[in-house]
Amino acid sequence: MARKIIIDTDPGQDDAVALLLAMASPELEVLGITCVAGNVPLALTARNARIVCELAGRDDIPVFAGCDAPLQRRLVTAEHVHGRSGLDGITLPDPVMPLQDRHGVDFLIDTLRSEPAGTVTLVPIGPLTNIATAFRRAPDVVGRVKQVVMMGGAYFEVGNVTPSAEFNIFVDPEAAQVVFASGVDLVVLPLDLTHRALTSRAWVERMRVTGPVGRAVASWTDFFERYDQQKYGNAGAPLHDPCTIAWLLRPDLFDGRRINVEIETEGRFTTGMTVADWWGVTDRPANALFLRHVETEQLFDLIARRIASLDKAAAG
Ligand code: BDR
Ligand code: CA
Repeated sequence: MARKIIIDTDPGQDDAVALLLAMASPELEVLGITCVAGNVPLALTARNARIVCELAGRDDIPVFAGCDAPLQRRLVTAEHVHGRSGLDGITLPDPVMPLQDRHGVDFLIDTLRSEPAGTVTLVPIGPLTNIATAFRRAPDVVGRVKQVVMMGGAYFEVGNVTPSAEFNIFVDPEAAQVVFASGVDLVVLPLDLTHRALTSRAWVERMRVTGPVGRAVASWTDFFERYDQQKYGNAGAPLHDPCTIAWLLRPDLFDGRRINVEIETEGRFTTGMTVADWWGVTDRPANALFLRHVETEQLFDLIARRIASLDKAAAG
């Protein structure tokens, strides 16, 4: 039986690839997509998620708009990375499929209550505002979650949006704190892992020729690679968010430790830092599986093969 997931997202080119990878994977059943403000404001993330569903021929997946601002702070966005639309790189048609009427947080709560306990996995790949709001408003749902598999944080790599914080955590550290303190079974894919899994030219060109979906992935990668290349001087760019879906499909490709991770919410310079006790120097109990390594070649081969299958299916 396919594993049921809800993807909570702020697309974002790498979010878009994560959505495509999930939609291309029969091992996963995407119950819905909840959008959050992050890389760009909510109206754009909710638009972009539907563009991606239509690109994959999956307008049957319900898309919900969730929270439009962090719990307590003003929204910080990342147009400098993702472009003004959040999905710059290729012009795709405006979505025709409707946005659902229900709020994304209500969808999360209702689904966790109506599905059998322990069967629904949450995959947050943006700021954690929607998930934290659901956990706060309906504490009974926390124990019903099978697992939270999220992209965010960093320890050895420290930060990308500030010297000490990763974007998804920095945007809403109070929300991250709620999730990390919730007791939920938590799997974290931090920058330590994603910054070591970079796209290659050969991979991008492999994607470009599979069909319309692969072409979109190649053009998105071309776009956001520029930012990472200028900033880090690397040859390729990290595909952060698809690592969550890849972990669900092939956990054997990944390696990490169960450790304690606390979220800094008050630091003068360190707000949004994930204080990860990798070396076990405190007696704080482990609350997360913190992944640090992935087999890069196999990761990108998996993504390429699955996304190519979407183009193959569309071509009949
Ligand atoms: C994370 O921030 C966003 O810009 C990406 O989509 C990813 O989720 C990486 O720090
Ligand atoms: Ca994201």
